[in-house]
Amino acid sequence: MALSVAKCPSSSAAARLAPDHSPPRWSTLLRPFPRTVLAGSVAVPSSKNWNLGVACKQEVGTVAASSPKEAPSKNVEIGGLLGLSSEEYRDVIGPNSSEREPTVSITVVGASGDLAKKKIFPALFALYYEDCLPKHFTIFGYARSKMTDAELRTMVSKTLTCRIDKRENCNEKMEQFLQRCFYHSGQYESEENFADLDKELKEHEGGRLSNRLFYLSIPPNIFIDVVKSASKSASSKNGWTRVIVEKPFGRDSESSAALTRGLKQYLDEDQIFRIDHYLGKELVENLSILRFSNLVFEPLWSRQYIRNVQLIFSEDFGTEGRGGYFDNYGIIRDIMQNHLLQILALFAMETPVSLDAEDIRNEKVKVLRSMKPLQLENVVIGQYRSHTKGGVAYPGYTDDKTVPKGSLTPTFAAAALFIDNARWDGVPFLMKAGKALETRRTEIRVQFRHVPGNLYKRSFGTDLDRATNELVIRVQPDEAIYLKINNKIPGLGMRLDRSNLNLLYASRYSKEIPDAYERLLLDAIEGERRLFIRSDELDAAWELFTPLLKELEEKKIAPELYPYGSCGPAGAHYLAANYNVRWGDTASDA
Ligand code: NDP
Ligand code: BG6
Repeated sequence: MALSVAKCPSSSAAARLAPDHSPPRWSTLLRPFPRTVLAGSVAVPSSKNWNLGVACKQEVGTVAASSPKEAPSKNVEIGGLLGLSSEEYRDVIGPNSSEREPTVSITVVGASGDLAKKKIFPALFALYYEDCLPKHFTIFGYARSKMTDAELRTMVSKTLTCRIDKRENCNEKMEQFLQRCFYHSGQYESEENFADLDKELKEHEGGRLSNRLFYLSIPPNIFIDVVKSASKSASSKNGWTRVIVEKPFGRDSESSAALTRGLKQYLDEDQIFRIDHYLGKELVENLSILRFSNLVFEPLWSRQYIRNVQLIFSEDFGTEGRGGYFDNYGIIRDIMQNHLLQILALFAMETPVSLDAEDIRNEKVKVLRSMKPLQLENVVIGQYRSHTKGGVAYPGYTDDKTVPKGSLTPTFAAAALFIDNARWDGVPFLMKAGKALETRRTEIRVQFRHVPGNLYKRSFGTDLDRATNELVIRVQPDEAIYLKINNKIPGLGMRLDRSNLNLLYASRYSKEIPDAYERLLLDAIEGERRLFIRSDELDAAWELFTPLLKELEEKKIAPELYPYGSCGPAGAHYLAANYNVRWGDTASDA
């Protein structure tokens, strides 16, 4: 069978077949290949996604029919059987090689829920559409709700789109995909129900090497129940078993540590894939490339040249529909402690030894552990109130029926953070996150220092801060990277203005940007951990925010109210002003 190559951005397909080298506690691991042969596959770099122009192979498991020497990626795919001819390969694998081809069973636990419908199934379909899923795969939805396979398919089909390049055969592909989706109804704490799931999975796996991925798309209070039942009754007996865990990972240091302890009763750390979907966003992933592969940036990446860094998240809608969840967490736990802090760590880390997941995560954790404790005076919190604009009445946070009256939960927060190390000493990292604001956007803004002895300072008037360079990495929407520079306005006079060197993704790249969940799901299938949170990173993140959260709650600090659809509480501007900073997103030339 011929190999066909798809343009799957993050996959080399290689590691998809490469066995997980961590011994899963869930299963008795019977390796498909002899140990000596496997040794070769260990050398597959986990930095595969960083290769430029890597293609995603369409049909995993078809490689045996071709000579491994033909294409380098195939050597890797067959588990390190480097240099073997097709006959030798078949000798090792056995005559009935198709039975030894691995299969991946993906079980979405909580399949009846919002996240599964909105994100997980559409991401899986997009991967299928892009030919990034292995040849043999099955998707199971698992939840308590009663549903038939047909009903699951109908539910899922409503949120699937053929957004990718609007290619042909969409309906056909969708139908094929849906035929590989099944549903199993069961209780979350029932080992028996998971044993029934196991039977169904086995039927679909058809005796092949089985790899199993469980996606916990459920409220966190039932994570451990599910992991316990699934580990006892539905883990793979001969392949890997991995579990994707959705946030929130606890509410503070203690609950997070308890959750980790609970998970580790049944799983090894290597099997736990804690997802922070912001790490799967294209421009967040690009941060390291921008910095470490462009000489013009890395030398400037320090306190010597950078005045401040701003990490800004804003949404133009409230907590509609999620008030119950949100009120228990608030914006600091929902966005800052994870999404923005993860971006900060990636932004500020030292050069890792390699692109290996552990090397990158080691550097990130060092940043987190070097952060100064967060003081209450460096934090501003807010909550949106109702507001009428253009004749439309927008509800306040506490108007939501699922939110307790008088709730003090912040829907907005701004904070000034500092990294106590040689590179970043004294540089404010300002974070701002809020719901029900004027716009929806996420960006990283890097404001550079003044040019020493600037020859042109007279041309800038009195506000020299407005004349410094600013690098903006707009994560969403309209992904872009632009650098504000000073420039002479063409003509005979000497007038300067600020212009943008602008890399607007939509103009530069014709291909649509994959959703973060696509990248992360593919990475989990491939065993690539770089974009997932390790437990020590999580501990360090909670260590930073837990004392502040406790103080806010113990002192019952009232949030500053701001109108729905505004640019947030004025306190955020005063906080920034304390450090001689102006928020870049509110500037007239933002
Ligand atoms: P839901 O509240 O929709 O829950 C998912 C499913 O879990 C439900 O369909 C329900 O299935 C089951 N469930 C819900 N509540 C309970 C309960 N108290 N006890 C037992 N089972 C319950 O969650 P989402 O789909 O919105 O999110 C899933 C996970 O992802 C959560 O941890 C959430 O915090 C996280 N998350 C969600 C995001 C989103 O945009 N929705 C974004 C980021 C993270 P059934 O009754 O059929 O068993
Ligand atoms: C989730 C938060 O993690 O991220 C939500 O729980 C938030 O409150 C969402 O709306 C934002 O994600 P995105 O990808 O839409 O920016």
